Amino acid sequence: MNKVAVIMGSTSDLPVMQDAIDILKEFNIEVVVDIVSAHRTPEKLFDFSKNARANGIDVIIAGAGGAAHLPGMVASLSPLPVIGVPVKSSNSIDGWDSVLSILQMPGGVPVATVALNGAKNAGILAAQIIGVSNETVYNAIVEYKEGLKTKVIASSKNL
Ligand code: RP5
Repeated sequence: MNKVAVIMGSTSDLPVMQDAIDILKEFNIEVVVDIVSAHRTPEKLFDFSKNARANGIDVIIAGAGGAAHLPGMVASLSPLPVIGVPVKSSNSIDGWDSVLSILQMPGGVPVATVALNGAKNAGILAAQIIGVSNETVYNAIVEYKEGLKTKVIASSKNL
């Protein structure tokens, strides 16, 4: 069974990160959710990252705001793919601080960064990574994309 971890720096990130959890559940992918703060719980960050693979996790989604070091630090410690979600948090000036903290990683340590508050796309991307080797999830993605197309065509007819 494939598993995605959705972690975030604070419970205050949860309203944004919930979108990732919801879409992964829609794809019937097991999700583990936790609060892991790069600055407030660095030891937990280390333990989580080092043990993620052994704990059956395939993809890590990490969301944080402001000086958002969580996704990058997880990527530095784990060989698993890390998707970063910049969160426009209370300590974020305008969101750009969160985006750039997650986006501008040094060579060799990638974080697949989605849009500001783009947790839904993070969930879809994680499902797509799993879908490469999981036919059921792959087919669910195909169906999801067909659904997007159908909705747009229906909405243009209803104008
Ligand atoms: C970041 O600081 C967290 O990821 C969150 O986005 C932000 C604010 O955290 P709280 O002060 O709301 O706990 O590390």
